[in-house]
Amino acid sequence: MVRYAADDINPDMSFLEMLDVVNCQLIEKGEEPIAFYHDCREGICGSCGMMINGVAQGPRRATATCQLHMRHFKDGDRIYIEPWRSRAFPVLRDLIVDRGGFDRIIQSGGFISISTGSAPEANSVLVTKQDSDRAMDAAVCIGCGACVAACPNGAASLFTGAKVSHLALRPQGQPERQSRVIKMVEAMDREGFGNCTMHRECEAVCPKSIGVNFIARMNREYLRSLLKG
Ligand code: SF4
Ligand code: FES
Repeated sequence: MVRYAADDINPDMSFLEMLDVVNCQLIEKGEEPIAFYHDCREGICGSCGMMINGVAQGPRRATATCQLHMRHFKDGDRIYIEPWRSRAFPVLRDLIVDRGGFDRIIQSGGFISISTGSAPEANSVLVTKQDSDRAMDAAVCIGCGACVAACPNGAASLFTGAKVSHLALRPQGQPERQSRVIKMVEAMDREGFGNCTMHRECEAVCPKSIGVNFIARMNREYLRSLLKG
């Protein structure tokens, strides 16, 4: 751990803006800035996550690091910041980890194969409101990796469960439904993520409040696909 002073921090700054200020001060002193990853800064790209005081994505529930504000800390607080802690997410530098394992899980099956053409008339694709809502609840996953970092087993089950489920719940996802779940679960194992033993730490830190019911759905999809051969 390296200790940095964070001076002149406005309570309305985001956590990343606080790091920006610290980095500016480091650069002015001729020191190396702290490397961290970010893109949208509005909670939708999933790139900014880090451990804050030992909690993935910090102390606020359902909040990505870029959406966390300094008013939730006290003046003079000592804040411990670390990169994601998981064997499957090797640290590249400072707070940046390699989340390529997630990309490879998606590449293994997290897509639909379709002949593209003009967009179909929306009402010609029948889907129940309940399935549509459930699919959207899963599709909000931003691939941040907090679930893996928080899990004592380093499992990627919440992420993979969300990705498997949102496709399995829509008509467009049906043709590859069986092979998809097998390939994605196998990829998850290959990438060195652990097994889910239902600690539910993932659910507690997920910035999009994705529930472990999607892990159960993935397990059902997986078993059904295995049985169907
Ligand atoms: S399930 Fe939640 S915590 Fe895990 S990658 Fe998706 S958004 Fe992040
Ligand atoms: S920078 Fe995109 S989610 Fe935080």
